Amino acid sequence: MKTVMLVFGTRPEAIKMCPLVNELKQRTGLKTLVCVTGQHRQMLDQVLEVFSVVPDFDLSIMTQNQTLFDITSLILNRIRTVLETAKPDVVLVHGDTSTTFATALACYYLRIPVGHVEAGLRTYNIYSPYPEEFNRQAVSIIARYNFAPTKLSRDNLIREGKDKARIYVTGNTAIDALKTTIRSDYHNENLDWAAGSRLILLTAHRRENLGEPMHHMFRAIRKVMDEHPEVKAIYPIHMNPRVRQEAVNVFGAGAAGGPEERMRIIDPLDVLDFHNFMAHAYLILTDSGGIQEEAPSLGKPVLVMRDTTERPEGIEAGTLKLVGTSESVIYREFTRLLDDPLAYRQMAHAANPYGDGHACQRIADILENN
Ligand code: UD1
Ligand code: UDP
Repeated sequence: MKTVMLVFGTRPEAIKMCPLVNELKQRTGLKTLVCVTGQHRQMLDQVLEVFSVVPDFDLSIMTQNQTLFDITSLILNRIRTVLETAKPDVVLVHGDTSTTFATALACYYLRIPVGHVEAGLRTYNIYSPYPEEFNRQAVSIIARYNFAPTKLSRDNLIREGKDKARIYVTGNTAIDALKTTIRSDYHNENLDWAAGSRLILLTAHRRENLGEPMHHMFRAIRKVMDEHPEVKAIYPIHMNPRVRQEAVNVFGAGAAGGPEERMRIIDPLDVLDFHNFMAHAYLILTDSGGIQEEAPSLGKPVLVMRDTTERPEGIEAGTLKLVGTSESVIYREFTRLLDDPLAYRQMAHAANPYGDGHACQRIADILENN
């Protein structure tokens, strides 16, 4: 029997891999093992719980304020024994995190075939996003199976000379996850608090945005909120201490009645809550990758606070707009979406460039038959 091992470590990888774990576990012809690196601790465990996935191995590598050196070296050192003991026939990694890269590298050293889920996304600027663009390009050198979410991502791989026969367009497993989380009867106290106002959902965490760029992003948001008393914001804040410090600096103190009373900074939401918050939001401001894939299905406009995106499908669909990290541009575009109903309507329509929610079945079929 073929043994498939899935390795992941951060929140977004888990959200997109857990539905695949559960699909693979139903396949009687495959033995499925899960190894988590624990690159994220609390934010990973939240997802494992929602999808009832219990890892077979846990490398527990997370440290506070970890560097890229910490993550990569700890994974390389700890995963070797796991791979040598479990002897998987194929290892599946996801996307572009340091967990993804270090795991693929370890598999390469041990000559274990790698399947890359969400393969072929590109900006072709290895510093944006950093280090994700390097990570995913490096994994593409190693991967035997490339599960591309869209035709565009497949075309990137073909242009780079990858073997066509090993590239499969499957859709993005993010949509599989989204199909299981949205509830029409969803209730939450935070949404009750925001009822009657225009709800903004905010997230931010990119490594290249830490420091000055994030400061500018937050200042722009604060300024718009100062000028729009009808707006309330919910900000489920990433656990990175540097992000938290910046948020306190900009949103923390202020006059009574100011925007801080209309912004709730809360701990990371579990994925079921977050997806339903998205469904109730008026607008989303983020530098996240995964949110760019989910928002088009929900018809929610997203201002992407980054200079580049590897997800041009959402821009083409009209739901996403790249606004960079400059204070003046974010201020202008955020204000426009609040004040100009036509501009808002042009972005707020449901489109689904990322698949039909059956990506996991396709990947499992391919693994069973190849
Ligand atoms: C990582 C990925 C990034 C992905 C993001 C998703 C890399 C280099 N970066 O970035 O591609 O978009 O995850 O969120 O792989 N922390 C906790 N608890 C947690 C998670 C994080 O305390 O559950 C804190 C720790 O202090 C940790 C810090 O956040 O050191 C940063 O985590 P890290 O994984 O290094 O970077 P992310 O920005 O989360
Ligand atoms: N998400 C979540 N809780 C939150 C914020 C985000 O479950 O409080 C989900 C979101 O729906 C998406 C994923 O986390 O599926 C995105 O993760 P993140 O932005 O951390 O990473 P990226 O996608 O940028 O790599």
